[in-house]
Order: sequence, then structure tokens, then C-alpha cells
Amino acid sequence: MSEANISGHIPVLLNEVIDAFSIFKNKKSLIYFDGTFGRGGHASRIFELYKPEMVYASDQDLAAVEYAKSRFPEIQISHENFLEFSQRNQKKIQLDMVLLDLGVSSPQLDVAERGFSFNKDGPLDMRMNQKSDLTAMKVINEFSEEDLVKVFKDYGEVLKPHRVVRAIVKDRVENPFNTTLQLSGLIERVDGWQKKGFHPATQYFMALRLVVNRELQVVEDAIPLLIDLLSEGGRIVIITFHSLEDRLVKNIFKSTKSGFLVNKKVIVPSEEECKLNPRARSAKLRIFQKGKEPEKPDKFALRRAQLLK
Ligand SMILES: C[S@@+](CC[C@H](N)C(=O)[O-])C[C@H]1O[C@@H](n2cnc3c(N)ncnc32)[C@H](O)[C@@H]1O
Repeated sequence: MSEANISGHIPVLLNEVIDAFSIFKNKKSLIYFDGTFGRGGHASRIFELYKPEMVYASDQDLAAVEYAKSRFPEIQISHENFLEFSQRNQKKIQLDMVLLDLGVSSPQLDVAERGFSFNKDGPLDMRMNQKSDLTAMKVINEFSEEDLVKVFKDYGEVLKPHRVVRAIVKDRVENPFNTTLQLSGLIERVDGWQKKGFHPATQYFMALRLVVNRELQVVEDAIPLLIDLLSEGGRIVIITFHSLEDRLVKNIFKSTKSGFLVNKKVIVPSEEECKLNPRARSAKLRIFQKGKEPEKPDKFALRRAQLLK
């Protein structure tokens, strides 16, 4: 049985991740870091194909860490975010292959008690790390009207969140928001359905999740540190599910002088993969390699030589 069947999470862009690391095929003594271990879907395939000598992993979700400890006892998994991992290990280790598969896992989305889903009734939580302080409940009940507008505009890319925010601020005086359905119901009532198959709460929930987990900030701070940890020729592969996150990754990769962006065109899942796994729909993959970019073959050199004869 594959890891996906056992764990309930189907790894996104799996073949593309494997291809991104194919330069390491048959190399010995590889060191791999999986910063978003989840249920180890990508990792277990990487173990099979590239047989890394040393594996480090992190996940900020306790459930993922417990799963990894019981199923992959041979690896070093730590309960922390990959920013903490990269800070803790500066100048101590070198990594050849790094994978960050950002966002939430299916087990997180599917368990109502985690509060990530707008169509499953649960507490308004959305913390990936169950030990952190900020919950979606706090954001909704305690942020000012102005700050909530900013959150939904900046992180959810909602063009006009004002009516929803006004309704939240009015309702919470008498009835503080406790559950996911309480909030998604209000958004549905105020905004209505604009697009078939696209719940009006989708972008609002995405914004809350990004703020609760400081996702963009962690990515922005961690990538340069992870690049510092890469060995010469080492690669970092990042899968994003949000346009702001992808832009951030692309810009950091492009502006980092110690290496280069390997795929000039972003890699996205095939139609077939999206059909099999609708959660793959918004995925984007980018690859960075440490070291000097190989010179491109000069397509016109032969022609020039012939003309000079
Ligand atoms: C999309 S899933 C990864 C799935 C994994 N690649 C697999 O195939 O099973 C994302 C996982 O990364 C974790 N995560 C997200 N952001 C993180 C961060 N900044 N640091 C550590 N873990 C993070 C989440 O808790 C979740 O378990």
C-alpha cells in the first residue's frame, strides 16, 4: 500500500518533485531535509529513490510529528517550524536536498476540530502548531475593524471585504464567534455566491490561516537561511498553494546571488493530477540550485562558424 493510502494525504506534484532532485541520482552520502513532513508522502518516495544517508525533518503540527515518529523511526523529526530548524542549524549542517510543501495537509483539513474548513463545523482554530497562542477565534473577535479589512485584503486578496467585516464587528458584540460554520455562514449571507463551486468564504478562510500561522513571514525569513545551509550544487524545491506565497518564493530565488532559479517557467500539476486530486489545483513548484548557473549552449554558434568560413 502506498504512503498516501495509509495516511490520507496524497502528495502533490510527486513526479515533478522526484524529477527536481534527479541530479542526485546515484550520488552517495546525500543529506535531505523535509521541512513540511506532513504524512511523509513525498519523503517516503525520496527515501526509496535517492536513499539519503541522513534525513532531517520538521513539522509544526504535533499530529504529523507523532505519525512520523511511529512510521519512520529512523529519521530525525522535530516539532518546530522550518524557520526555527534553519536558525538552530546555521553553520552546523549542510543539506543537499530540501523540500518545502507549504500549506495544510489533508488530515488537517479533514478533521473538523482543527478549524481549517469552512464547511465542517469546528472551533475557529486554524493553528498548525497546537501550542501557539494566536487562533482564528482571537483574530475574528479581537482585531479592530481596520485590521480585519487589511487581513482579508492583503492575505485573502478579497477586493471588498468591508461589508463582511462590518457584520462581524456588529455581531461579535452580542455573540462572539466560536465556530467555523458561524463565520462561513455569515460570509455566505453577506457576500452571497459569486462563482459556482467556489464558496464565498474560501478567500476569507485562507487569509485567516495565513495570519494565524504567520505563513508568509516564516517563508520569507526561512528561505535565505535554508539557502545558506545548502551544499554547493544543493537544491531547494518549494511547492506553494497561494499566489502571494509563490510570488515571494520566485522573487527570493531570483534575487539570491549564491545560486539560480532552475525552472524559469513555473511547474504546475497536469490536468490528470487535478482530476484525481482537486487539492492540487493551485499548486506551483519552483526549484533553486546553489552555485553557478551552467552556461547555456549557444544555439547560433555553428551557423556563425559556417558563415565565417
Ligand atoms: C501540504 S502538507 C505536507 C505534506 C507532505 N509533503 C506529504 O507528502 O505528506 C504541509 C505540512 O507542513 C506543515 N507546515 C506548514 N508550514 C510549516 C512550517 N512553516 N514549518 C513546519 N511545518 C509546516 C503542516 O503542518 C503540514 O503538516
